[in-house]
Amino acid sequence: MGSQSHISTFLLYLLSLISWSLVIGERCNGKEPIIFNFGDSNSDTGGLLAGLGLPVGPPNGRTFFNEPTGRFCDGRLAIDFLCESLNASYLSAYLESLAPNFKNGANFAIAGSATLPPFQPFALNIQVSQFLRFKTRTLQLIKKDASLGSSLPSENGFQEALYAFDIGQNDLSHAFSKNLTYQQVIRKIPTILSQIKSAIELIHQQGGRKFWVHNTGPLGCLPQKVAMFGGKNVALDAAGCLSYFNEAAKVLNLGLRRVCAELRAELHDATIIYVDIYAIKYDLIVNYSKYGFESPLMACCGYGGPPFNFNDKVRCGQSGYINGRMVSAEACKEGLRFVSWDGIHYTEAANAIISSKILSTNYSQPPLRFDWFCST
Ligand SMILES: *[C@@H]1O[C@H](CO)[C@@H](O)[C@H](O)[C@H]1NC(C)=O
Ligand SMILES: *[C@@H]1O[C@H](CO)[C@@H](O)[C@H](O)[C@H]1NC(C)=O
Ligand SMILES: *[C@@H]1O[C@H](CO)[C@@H](O)[C@H](O)[C@H]1NC(C)=O
Ligand SMILES: *[C@@H]1O[C@H](CO)[C@@H](O)[C@H](O)[C@H]1NC(C)=O
Repeated sequence: MGSQSHISTFLLYLLSLISWSLVIGERCNGKEPIIFNFGDSNSDTGGLLAGLGLPVGPPNGRTFFNEPTGRFCDGRLAIDFLCESLNASYLSAYLESLAPNFKNGANFAIAGSATLPPFQPFALNIQVSQFLRFKTRTLQLIKKDASLGSSLPSENGFQEALYAFDIGQNDLSHAFSKNLTYQQVIRKIPTILSQIKSAIELIHQQGGRKFWVHNTGPLGCLPQKVAMFGGKNVALDAAGCLSYFNEAAKVLNLGLRRVCAELRAELHDATIIYVDIYAIKYDLIVNYSKYGFESPLMACCGYGGPPFNFNDKVRCGQSGYINGRMVSAEACKEGLRFVSWDGIHYTEAANAIISSKILSTNYSQPPLRFDWFCST
């Protein structure tokens, strides 16, 4: 009996090894997965650093890369975990001129980006223009030298690629920072949405067929926002987040979901997945202890201590004078216990949970697997 169960356990182990290797072997149907990503710091893998040379210094990167990489995080972003799930390389920033790797696509996301105003470096429509240049140039180069086809996407690769979007947070953030009223912020939303819609339509005209659209997170739960805009007469929700900021994010998201539905009706040959990042992140904030986190509204890396550990004058990794005294914004010991890395961006620990929820399809409409785009 005992040895039999040992044998069957061993067989199960072997079987699982075999099926695992089959799954891996079939990653993206035997093709290179190709992803083009557009967005802001939530998915910037080095674009701001490459584009403006602005250092994103230590302790960014300390948990995973052991050095700063241009990501505003102690480690990996959700987009990195999504790439890992396909066994694809992390996406290089399009603007990275030193040893970029564009085999699995390119990342046009740049920290600070918004959809409005357009034509600013690096607003969404500029990111899309950069993509068009990337595509034209890539196809020209491969035509001249076919051997480049092994390190750059092919014409077919551009058609089969996944086009991912995560933008809009800074549009709301910038509007609130200008002291616009809630109503004034809400009035900007249709224009924000039309920028996102145009971006998808333009890429569709260029042959893109597979789209992955993240909605925007609970802006009012960022420690930065609560620290800077909270106060006696400011409404907070049950989680202690700024109600108006979260309401504006929800209005944007309702609109974005509608835009996705309109695009599905308009572009019959396209597949557009809308992912409810708001629900995922809000669950992390509300149910933080279930995920092993402590103070969800406090930054791991910042200055000021509880309750938010955020001071806009001295951000994560920086030093500066506060009340005439030189101070530094340092990182907490255990990033694993924090949802927020620097008051604006999530920790790698949070991003790992966020990406596993994205991969679950529970938050996707329609609920297709992230690797669905590999299947044709
Ligand atoms: C993952 O991809 C790399 C190259 O991109 C390849 O060398 C490796 O064999 C792949 N791993 C598995 C387990 O398929
Ligand atoms: C917004 O209001 C705050 C507080 O009244 C003020 O300190 C700040 O300068 C204002 N910002 C802008 C951009 O007007
Ligand atoms: C928190 O967790 C409970 C129990 O799992 C769940 O019902 C609730 O929806 C979660 N809250 C949020 C905001 O997701
Ligand atoms: C997804 O939903 C299923 C069914 O409700 C649930 O069992 C599973 O835990 C969910 N997964 C995640 C990551 O939320």
